[in-house]
Amino acid sequence: MAFGEIEEEEEETTTQLTDGEELGKPSQVTRVRSGVPGLDDLLQGGIPRNNLVLITGSCGNGKSTIGMQFLCHGAQYEEEPGIYLTLEEPPKQIIENACHFGWDVRGLIKDKKLNVVEPELYKWESLVTTIEDSVMEIGAKRLVLDSATILGMYFNDQYKIRRSFMDLSRILRRVNCTTFMISEREEGANKYSVYGVEEFVVDGVIVLYFIKEKNMFMRALAVRKMRSTNHSTKIYPFKIAAPGGIKVYPSAEIFGDV
Ligand SMILES: Nc1ncnc2c1ncn2[C@@H]1O[C@H](COP(=O)(O)OP(=O)(O)OP(=O)(O)O)[C@@H](O)[C@H]1O
Ligand SMILES: [Mg+2]
Repeated sequence: MAFGEIEEEEEETTTQLTDGEELGKPSQVTRVRSGVPGLDDLLQGGIPRNNLVLITGSCGNGKSTIGMQFLCHGAQYEEEPGIYLTLEEPPKQIIENACHFGWDVRGLIKDKKLNVVEPELYKWESLVTTIEDSVMEIGAKRLVLDSATILGMYFNDQYKIRRSFMDLSRILRRVNCTTFMISEREEGANKYSVYGVEEFVVDGVIVLYFIKEKNMFMRALAVRKMRSTNHSTKIYPFKIAAPGGIKVYPSAEIFGDV
């Protein structure tokens, strides 16, 4: 379907989504603000508290940035401490990248409002303990797991991989945090994750795209699923810039005026 057709069909819905109260019945769900300008407008005001949300996209799409932005906002402005569990990049690099966007990561870590934790790789039991202990230590309310894709390497058959994702989702729910589980996705693929199971064990899926238009790529984002939420189904442009990080443009067109 052409982008133009989608825009026309859903123009009215998008306008209403800027105010959750206008959607008919006010939502009973408690929501947390993501800290990403424009994103909460697509989600009736925010992500349902304690939901597990998959952030999926291809390389360099902003997955780690959106994760850290979500945690820094929670820690700085919402009294919600956060844990960043990094399974790929070393904590030092994660912290340096985040400082580049102007977030006071080191100050938040010093004040025990944020922690960047590197679990021991290839030890499933140790991963579970690290999640539980680090959440307890600072009373975390937000959690980012970057990335879940590497967990597939813990196991050597598809059945065990699928089961591990089911177990992981149960563990992440048990710690009562609003969680971003980051996953890789091949650009243009018709599934939302590497193993094809991640999107089914979560409450929400946010997809980050890199769309080719003539001689350049556009960054775009869509909410593919969000339980308990009358979310927008359009694809929206977003930008990454320093300072500030990610900003979504809910009223702009994907191939238009961002
Ligand atoms: N100051 C900046 N201004 C604009 N874009 C930036 C800036 N800093 C980083 N970026 C963009 O952000 C991208 C990296 O974002 P991020 O690390 O969040 O992506 P990712 O999806 O986690 O990548 P990976 O797949 O490697 O884990 C860079 O490739 C670059 O395009
Ligand atoms: Mg990353």
